Amino acid sequence: MQTPDPSTPASQSGFGNTFSSEALPGALPVGQNSPQRLPYGLYAEQLSGTAFTVPRSEARRTWLYRIRPSAGHPPFQRLERQLAGLEPGPITPNRLRWSPFAVPAERTDFLDGLIRLAATAPAEQASGVSVFLYRANASMESVFFDGDGELLIVPESGRLGIDTELGRLEIGPLQIAVVPRGMRFRVELLDATARGYLCENHGCPLRLPELGPIGSNGLANPRDFLAPLARYEDRSGPVRLVQKFLGELWACELDHSPLDVVAWHGNHVPYSYDLRRFNTLGTVSFDHPDPSIFTLLTSPGSVPGQANVDFVIFPPRWMVAEHTFRPPWFHRNLMNEFMGLIQGVYDAKAGGFLPGGASLHNRMSAHGPDAATTRQAIAADLKPQKIENTLAFMFETGQVLRPSRFALDSPQLQSDYDGCWSGLPRTFDPQRR
Ligand SMILES: [Fe+2]
Repeated sequence: MQTPDPSTPASQSGFGNTFSSEALPGALPVGQNSPQRLPYGLYAEQLSGTAFTVPRSEARRTWLYRIRPSAGHPPFQRLERQLAGLEPGPITPNRLRWSPFAVPAERTDFLDGLIRLAATAPAEQASGVSVFLYRANASMESVFFDGDGELLIVPESGRLGIDTELGRLEIGPLQIAVVPRGMRFRVELLDATARGYLCENHGCPLRLPELGPIGSNGLANPRDFLAPLARYEDRSGPVRLVQKFLGELWACELDHSPLDVVAWHGNHVPYSYDLRRFNTLGTVSFDHPDPSIFTLLTSPGSVPGQANVDFVIFPPRWMVAEHTFRPPWFHRNLMNEFMGLIQGVYDAKAGGFLPGGASLHNRMSAHGPDAATTRQAIAADLKPQKIENTLAFMFETGQVLRPSRFALDSPQLQSDYDGCWSGLPRTFDPQRR
């Protein structure tokens, strides 16, 4: 039995389940979804995250039993202030790395502080991802939903309380949350500031990867994912509701809180996960497997095995490989790699890749350990070594990630990134085997 963490809100565990929850006894109708009259005078509303007719294994939908239907709202108006990084930048095949972006001094909530660093495609495409950074020093007062995709939130610093239509999640660094497409939510800061990464997935919803020969356990185990319990706000008064639609922000004013769902059932749900629960696997002989062994969640793409996006983590682990170059090997890949760092040092880079920073290695760009790491790895005494106090991650996608103009123009872009490989020693000697 997993020990519940007393500091987190009550939750239910599992991945992809049909969950159900009610904040008032008997609020959930029994035996049908849409009775003529509902308990407590609630309204029924279905939120569909997939088309009605997709295969059952793909279908995501949740029935909401709420105080007022979502349909009762005035027209949305396009906001004057849009997200930073909306405009794509010029194409570049170069390897890119950014230093961390500071939390602004002026009042900035989760939504205000979003920067779109890169995107594979315009938001209306039914595949691809957009990658954002968030920086905040204030809790949101408005409520937000994203029509363009589901949101994978990866905190680097600061804890977040995420109040959704289905209930509350709380996460901090070394934890993640996923908010499904269209779900309304509000982010409260539980510390003075917060910063992290956001992957907006325009394609198939994230799910657990296949395990193949690994077997029936390992990597992220389903019971470690937590969905919220129903919790509602019965509150009148103006609330600004903001939506993201084809990349742009639109808002309207409601006369009540839209987080007024008293009961619900379904599988289109927000969830959280503690990255420390990841069962990290690796070699116990020589070489190391492809980093796909570290995949936590995946959104399949149209080519079998080529993900729309994989969420891959590099957690603390033992390195025991014999007669092996132990850092990530040099490589050139089809897949496109956006990396972030939550804490510590990533084992392929001796410096320059910092918590809150980011790197982008697109299709066929040559990369791998920097010169200092390489020299050290060739000379290392290969005792068992624990890589500790570190957590890097990757959003890896089958489509090229095009950086935004904002990201390319920002002073955080490191102009000397290529230099980290310029000192690679020439070790070739035709006389020495
Ligand atoms: Fe790579």
